[in-house]
Amino acid sequence: MKLFPENFWWGSATSAPQSEGASLQDGKSPSIWDHWFKTEPNRFHNNVGCADASTFYDNWKDDIALMKQLGHNSFRTSISWSRLIPNGTGEVNPKAIDFYNNVINELIAHEIEPFINLFHFDMPMCMQDKGGWESREVVEAYAVYAKTCFELFGDRVKHWFTFNEPIVPVEGGYLYDFHYPNIVDFKRAATVAHNTLIAHSKAVIAYRELKFDGKIGIILNLTPSYPRSQNPADLKASEIADWFFNRSFLDPVTKGQYPTGLVELLTEHKQLPETVEGDSTILKQGIVDLLGVNFYAPRRAQAPKYARHADAIFMPELFFDDYVMPNRKMNPHRGWEIYEKGIYDIAKIIQNEYDNIEWFIAENGMGVEGEEKFNIDGQIQDDYRIEFVKDHLTWLHKAIEEGANCRGYHLWTFIDCWSWANSYKNRYGWIALDLKTQKRTIKKSGEWIAQVSKYNGFE
Ligand code: BG6
Repeated sequence: MKLFPENFWWGSATSAPQSEGASLQDGKSPSIWDHWFKTEPNRFHNNVGCADASTFYDNWKDDIALMKQLGHNSFRTSISWSRLIPNGTGEVNPKAIDFYNNVINELIAHEIEPFINLFHFDMPMCMQDKGGWESREVVEAYAVYAKTCFELFGDRVKHWFTFNEPIVPVEGGYLYDFHYPNIVDFKRAATVAHNTLIAHSKAVIAYRELKFDGKIGIILNLTPSYPRSQNPADLKASEIADWFFNRSFLDPVTKGQYPTGLVELLTEHKQLPETVEGDSTILKQGIVDLLGVNFYAPRRAQAPKYARHADAIFMPELFFDDYVMPNRKMNPHRGWEIYEKGIYDIAKIIQNEYDNIEWFIAENGMGVEGEEKFNIDGQIQDDYRIEFVKDHLTWLHKAIEEGANCRGYHLWTFIDCWSWANSYKNRYGWIALDLKTQKRTIKKSGEWIAQVSKYNGFE
């Protein structure tokens, strides 16, 4: 039997925009997702937006009962800024307060610890109109929003997160064109990243000033960077990819400063973000109590095959090429490599290079396109997901035995949910969602995890 530490967090994660639905109901204002879908529905898989998502706004009570059936002792979702404070600043929406109070209280009544995140890619459109994360006015508005959440719910919520995967809106919105506002400009992306970190720090400062007895953290998507070979050029390429995609956020939130190598590289190429005097002091105050780690797939890098043209747009890929390792293990339903040991390698990096800070797996999971084909007699027989989770947990267990300070494992996700431009393409849940009827049915993996949680481990 592989047993996990006492009080290990078993649960799952979702976010407000991906689960709630009611996206323009009860006073909620549009987020960038509502706006982008309205203006360019063709950018979304099968032209499906998040208006209904998985109807958690209406079904929260029954859904929380289902979580209990899955053996959850913890659950992460987010608060929608555009629902709580529809104008971005100012008046707080009483219906939103009721909704989040209901959810939090119901979770606690079921002995499910609420883990609450403040921002999951969902900038209110009125704040994007002011410049989004490029604007310091928006950073200040976010700090007030965060403080409002702590004051409203901090008496009961003991685990807070300022952001989920803050690098993704940077990549999607300002580098690679898969999120609104679809800008491609590294220097602006760097400013967005920096301002996000300032916003994070301001929320941490606000939380500490209120002196609640909980913890505050951030959730980062960490993708260990593996070089193709030990050739120094491959090693350098992999190290640079690691600076850009992991340490750019990991270092500031754990050490209070950016990695020196990254700063030197951006200085050399005149790509440093815009900053304001006093920022480095603010950054130092954003060191977290708890780190959430999302892990799906590794990043493999090799030295660039071809020299870049002198006028090439500045992009992280100037310094490395992605490396497709022959015979890698794939999730053919999603197109991502599966590398279970990655979870162990992350644990080792945190243990050896980040003071063994308290952390947990905040997302891990297996997206499957066309999962309906695995439906037998009304239930999704997702043995592949059981195997995926088991293999990752096996490596996590080994890391914990070797001293990793990992406190829990949350799957992405609870019920199949809407996923940004991919809409409902990839299914990840412990529970299947019938899009036509909104009927929820526990998958085989959901029954399995209930046992794992019950026995706090597996054979
Ligand atoms: C994670 C995000 O990166 O990936 C989630 O935090 C997202 O919000 C999940 O839904 C799955 O993404 P995809 O693209 O496979 O649907």
